[in-house]
Amino acid sequence: MVQNAPMGNPGNPSNAVDYDPFGAEVMADPGTAHSRLVRECPVHHFEGHGFDFYSLARYADVLDALRDIETYSSHWGQSPHRTPPHGMLSDPPQHTMFRRMVLQAFTPRVVERMEPWVERLADELVDQMEAPGTRTAELHDDFACPLPVITIARILGVPEEMKDQFKYWSDIQVAGMGQIDRSLYERNRKELEDYFIVLLNERRALRSAGKDMPEDLISALVLAAEDAPRKIEDFDMLSVLLQLLVGGNETTTSLITNCVWRLLERRELWEQVCANPALVEVAIEESLRFDAPVLGLFRTNTCPVSLHGVEIPADSKVQLLYSAADRDGSVFEDPDTFRLDRDPDFLRRRTLAFGSGIHFCLGAPLARLESRIALAALIRRMPTLELNGPTERIEPFLLYGRHRLPVRW
Ligand code: HEM
Repeated sequence: MVQNAPMGNPGNPSNAVDYDPFGAEVMADPGTAHSRLVRECPVHHFEGHGFDFYSLARYADVLDALRDIETYSSHWGQSPHRTPPHGMLSDPPQHTMFRRMVLQAFTPRVVERMEPWVERLADELVDQMEAPGTRTAELHDDFACPLPVITIARILGVPEEMKDQFKYWSDIQVAGMGQIDRSLYERNRKELEDYFIVLLNERRALRSAGKDMPEDLISALVLAAEDAPRKIEDFDMLSVLLQLLVGGNETTTSLITNCVWRLLERRELWEQVCANPALVEVAIEESLRFDAPVLGLFRTNTCPVSLHGVEIPADSKVQLLYSAADRDGSVFEDPDTFRLDRDPDFLRRRTLAFGSGIHFCLGAPLARLESRIALAALIRRMPTLELNGPTERIEPFLLYGRHRLPVRW
């Protein structure tokens, strides 16, 4: 049943401001709303649209919660829904075992080796946008979306011609995290899993026949599973593959679109980066801080928590707002301004856009590599780039990125 979101009530510390994470105002500009939560309502209780959850906004509280895995458990999933543990969406010791398996397969060398390949891919995508006589493009569809999809498909060992199907599956999985009606999500998940099972079984058959498996992440996971301390069920293996696919696509696309959008919106910033490509790095880090592509994921508190005058009952869903934490003025000076004169090392060390602690994003080095290469290619090849009409936000309430980004040059 759809309920209306409650209005703010200054007498109630958990509802001191009018904040509806599904409402048009917050959806359009979550950063500004989160910045207000940091200042005026560090623990918010939301009940509306069929959801009931708390949100933590301040940097210190979000960081403490990310580190305190005894109190803030991932056992019931990281979405606002209560889902049973699977793969890395769990607490130790299960989480530790799966994370180790993926780490073994997804080494810094795998990412490093991708660099020249991603550079070529970015250049090819720009070549296609710049076809003779063309002066406009949809930067999301033509560049920011295919780049990570093709990259992760290649790392996993999925044929490139499957990329559109993959993107479709991946988007439905992401959208399903924030929806009440999960039927499409469940159907889609089954299709995706059936496809991954075929790829897994192909590799297992090669291995049993004593033949070489292709050099890709799926093969590496098959090998890592053989060394795991207990038998790895397909159910868990699929969860890991899904997290790699879904976790890395839309998020990286969002990082690229958000960053280019902010630079083009204040075009003097775009010109500064074109004049000084060394600014690419700070532009990416500042974009992560200012417009976190994952606004906040969820935990379930195992015991009652009392914070800033709010009692959070045990077993509540609690959203850790990375986006709000990164707008906390006690850590970042002038937090509500997108600035290129910040120290990129400080941003990299302190941003919570990739989380922190045991669930820290496994794909952070890859996401940074892809977005750095993407922005470098655009400023080098398309310095006259401009916005060419209104942009549009992606739909899931817990993510933030541009799904329409029309440009001209
Ligand atoms: C800009 C792009 C990305 C952002 C903003 C992002 C964000 C995040 C965040 C916030 C978490 C932590 C979740 C938590 O606190 O529980 C996370 C975890 C994770 N990310 Fe990313 N991610 C990005 C790209 C990627 C890529 C490219 C991949 C893989 C290819 C990936 C794979 C994962 C995995 C597997 C986890 C789970 C780690 C664990 O639970 O131990 N991510 N990501």
